[in-house]
Amino acid sequence: MRALIEHMKARRSVRTFDGQIVDEKMKEKLKVFGETIVNPFDIPVSFRFMDAKEKGLSCPVVTGTDLYVGGKIKNVANASAAFGYSFEAFILFAQSLGLGTVWLGGTMNRSAFENAMELEDDEMMPCATPIGYIAPKMSVRENMMRKAVKANERLAFEELFFDNTFDRPLTREKAGDLLTPLEMVRVAPSAVNKQPWRVVVDDNMIHFYLKRSKGFGKEGKLDMQMIDMGIALCHFALASKECDLDMEFVQKAPEILADNMEYVASYKRLF
Ligand SMILES: Cc1cc2nc3c(=O)[nH]c(=O)nc-3n(C[C@H](O)[C@H](O)[C@H](O)COP(=O)(O)O)c2cc1C
Repeated sequence: MRALIEHMKARRSVRTFDGQIVDEKMKEKLKVFGETIVNPFDIPVSFRFMDAKEKGLSCPVVTGTDLYVGGKIKNVANASAAFGYSFEAFILFAQSLGLGTVWLGGTMNRSAFENAMELEDDEMMPCATPIGYIAPKMSVRENMMRKAVKANERLAFEELFFDNTFDRPLTREKAGDLLTPLEMVRVAPSAVNKQPWRVVVDDNMIHFYLKRSKGFGKEGKLDMQMIDMGIALCHFALASKECDLDMEFVQKAPEILADNMEYVASYKRLF
């Protein structure tokens, strides 16, 4: 069974929870899993479980849970992509336990979250998520938010994935057995649903680039779209593994003409 792929397909952001408490046993499962997560950049992410009432955390779009999990990481090169990879692995695990989550990078009282995380000078907390049981009906606010960012939609396959050069879109037919891992990149969550990931498949190499959206630069230490790239790498790597495709992570920019794009990393397919 391709369990993780099914969880990637089933996941959606959840902002309306039903009030049911996440018990200690469940929290323990999440904590234990969090400690096992690694990312290809080898930069550890630690997860902290926090009570909103106790720590004064608030998020105007979230209702029905007081449990939040934040992640912290050392602010070093590649930290944002590494964070995206590891935190998404955590989100997918929560999904597999039947819990709802939503990546939060903006709509929260960030300084209260950062205080609660007890960050060292060289650390950052790029994002957090509420965790709880999904309410049967979304709040009006959540519905409005999803409509505003067209949360159910994604760019066309051919707009995201390319065949050897950025001039040639990759068709589903040509993608061959990379089709499922690439489809899993396409369903990934991204900040404001901007989907900044662009991928070039060049023989056995799969190169990931960031195409920044207007107004989405780096804000201080925080780089939401580079986090999106880490999420895409996570979906691609985990889905490839489930499809029995052997991939090796490499970070070496290829000689591909990529105007207005930032190279992030590649996977090399081992035959
Ligand atoms: C890095 C990142 C930051 C995000 N920040 C927020 C946020 O601050 N508030 C929020 O309500 N949703 C946030 N989201 C959720 C996105 O809006 C959501 O993933 C996107 O609209 C796609 O919808 P889906 O997750 O239901 O597929 C964020 C997502 C990512 C990946």
